[in-house]
Amino acid sequence: MAAFSKIWTFNVLAPRFRANLGSFLCQNGQGNHENHDLIFCSRPSLVSQQKLSYNGLDLAFSPYAAYWREIRKICMVYLFNSNRVRSFRPIREFEVSHMLEKITKSAVASKPNAFVGGTETSAATVVWAMTLLMKNSIAMKKAQEEVRKLIGMKGFVEEEDTEQLPYLKAVIKETMRAPLLIPRESCENCILGGYDIPAKTVVYVNTWAIGRDPDIWENPEEFDPERFINSSIDLKGQDFELIPFGAGRRICPGMLMGLATVEVSLANLLYKFDWEMPVGMKEEDVDMDAQPGLTMHKKNALCLMAQKYDR
Ligand code: HEM
Repeated sequence: MAAFSKIWTFNVLAPRFRANLGSFLCQNGQGNHENHDLIFCSRPSLVSQQKLSYNGLDLAFSPYAAYWREIRKICMVYLFNSNRVRSFRPIREFEVSHMLEKITKSAVASKPNAFVGGTETSAATVVWAMTLLMKNSIAMKKAQEEVRKLIGMKGFVEEEDTEQLPYLKAVIKETMRAPLLIPRESCENCILGGYDIPAKTVVYVNTWAIGRDPDIWENPEEFDPERFINSSIDLKGQDFELIPFGAGRRICPGMLMGLATVEVSLANLLYKFDWEMPVGMKEEDVDMDAQPGLTMHKKNALCLMAQKYDR
């Protein structure tokens, strides 16, 4: 039986383990499932993250122990529950209106808008969605038609409207088919699919490779939101083909908040404006280069010209 190195990337093992590795719910050669979430739910002690988190005193980088369980429980009960997420809705809508005003001003002045994701995961997702839509004009048109038909003359897409935008949701899922998760660390020795995995092995779940696996996805390299229409695959941690928020005990607790922000921002960008490349640039010039780091940001800012859509 082979012992594995201390850093273990799951796609190395594909296709033997296939995609279900998201929650360490692994399919072995015989098609049996083993759930190893508990063993793999710690975080490695990486220098930069320890500095950022005052030696793992936060939720994201703290090792799996009583302290993490306690703060996770407190955060889930008081901060991330669905009522609390709903209560922040006016703030999200205010921020989106503010963004639309700024874009309207630069549209009037014929200035390009630079989309910069900052450090924030929801903003980064919106930037990637816009990037992919610029490179796929049919999907862009369909998403705009859907939202414009639903909202008509109302002037603003409210959060509850997004429930009636299945194509927009499919665009978001398709955008999120290729992230990387926060690294995990195993708490004890275990055997996975015949391999000895020692305790304290750092594990990078390569969801990018899962999202590009031709055994799971038809034409994986294509941006095709249609694949999610009439599909039961969701991104909330149950379907291991698509786990942009992770899965299991360490699943992203801000998932509802993040999704609400992405949906309302993207819906309004598509409703309010037509988007074009700045003078002298073509759609092919839009690059997909990513910065290295915990959150996958675009390396070069996406620069686009907005034109207010006339109803
Ligand atoms: C589109 C937006 C977002 C994406 C794609 C995202 C993605 C992720 C991923 C992949 C993980 C690691 C899960 C794992 O190890 O299985 C994570 C963890 C985490 N996320 Fe998010 N996230 C988003 C938004 C947010 C927001 C808005 C918040 C807070 C307001 C948040 C707070 C956290 C925290 C605290 C953790 C660590 C949880 C733990 O280790 O117990 N996230 N997120």
